[in-house]
Amino acid sequence: MKKNPARNVHLVKGPTNLLEKINLSIDVDSRLYKEDIEASIAHVKMLSKTKIISSSEGKIILKGLNNILKDIEKGKIKFSNKHEDIHMNIEALLFKKVGNVAGKLHTARSRNDQVVTDFKLWIRENSNNIDKLCKNFQKILINVAKKNISSVMPGYTHLQIAQPITLAHHLLAYVEMIGRDRERIKDCVNRLNENPLGSGALAGTSFPIDRLMTSKILGFNRPTSNSVDSVSDRDFVIEFLFCLTLISVHLSRLAEEIIIWSSQQYNFIKLPDEIATGSSIMPQKKNPDGAELVRAQAATTIGNLNSLLVLLKGLPMTYSKDLQKDKQITFDSFDTVHLGLNVMSEIIDKAKFNIKSMREAADFSYATATDLADWLVRYLKYTFRDAYKITGKIVAYAEKNNKMLNELKLIDFQKFDKKINKNIFTVLSSINSVKSKKSYGGTSPENVKKSISKAIKKYL
Ligand code: ARG
Repeated sequence: MKKNPARNVHLVKGPTNLLEKINLSIDVDSRLYKEDIEASIAHVKMLSKTKIISSSEGKIILKGLNNILKDIEKGKIKFSNKHEDIHMNIEALLFKKVGNVAGKLHTARSRNDQVVTDFKLWIRENSNNIDKLCKNFQKILINVAKKNISSVMPGYTHLQIAQPITLAHHLLAYVEMIGRDRERIKDCVNRLNENPLGSGALAGTSFPIDRLMTSKILGFNRPTSNSVDSVSDRDFVIEFLFCLTLISVHLSRLAEEIIIWSSQQYNFIKLPDEIATGSSIMPQKKNPDGAELVRAQAATTIGNLNSLLVLLKGLPMTYSKDLQKDKQITFDSFDTVHLGLNVMSEIIDKAKFNIKSMREAADFSYATATDLADWLVRYLKYTFRDAYKITGKIVAYAEKNNKMLNELKLIDFQKFDKKINKNIFTVLSSINSVKSKKSYGGTSPENVKKSISKAIKKYL
């Protein structure tokens, strides 16, 4: 039989190879080594303070745990498949380091409260990494926005040119999205920050433990209230996965725009060689693979979020081994979003925006038709609906004559209403159109400048 400190002696026969294979999680949960040791250190300090173990035993175990941490960080440790998960690996290492007293560490705890404690610590810590990457991404978006406060581009609805906007305004929309993503992660961490350690297997413990003490050491706001809930709860994992998923959905939307914008028909963006790929057969091709793969990443994160929801659905209280899958799913989404944020930051940083093409696309469309209707309302006192109808007729006339709105002559406009005067031309260019959108949150360069300062203050 394999030496496994948690394998009960009443299991006379060792596990079959297949059971061992499906049960092993060390390849995945070894990423929790730091948090596992951190939580064990807090636990042992508490056991010693409450005299559940003697202070000399406590000291030996503490020293052992600290040395194991150092050994791991120096790369001296290779985790072993002989022990199914990170908890059993660390415990086995402790036995090697300090002998039989290691057996006292698991007093008044279970792997069920241990794993959920470790995982909360890991998510709390690593949410900071995501926050930093989000912040960096916002910084890059803002930097490009700063250079494009007056760069006009067509704004779309239904992917049809709708009204002119500025490139800065468009990019700042993503700054807002990522800002909400960051707040959502903060909320998630705030909610998860209750300490499950001390819930035992599911019922609590008869030992006189001090859960306030371990909560304080581990930086949790308070202990969790119900031991049954504590070991079964994976809400925090689902919330974290959702946060990651929404980030990747946001990245995917931008990725899609990059892909569209870099197509020959749009020509809004040029991807420098180092962020584009070639084709193995078509020598002229330059493909936006990076953006395409970021777009595809959302499929992974959406799938992972669904996986855990489905896994949890119908799972009876309390712990079942199904829950072991939560780590694999989360690490996968985490790594995916981590890479995605870096890749999109690089793309936005290095992409060359073709301001002229964007401007022309806004000009050579009827993107200022709404401005024309608004002018009729403001200066000729039409109701908006009547102005809308007249403008529709003017656009149809321009289209028929193959002209843009600002290429029409005053007499052309006056065919539709004699009172139209030369001032009409002030609203027909796309730059004047964006300049006029001064309403709060609108696209005027004046507004956008203020929005950038605000975004810098709020997010960077
Ligand atoms: N490796 C396990 C997990 O990740 C640890 C908890 C094991 N608990 C148990 N009762 N077998 O979920």
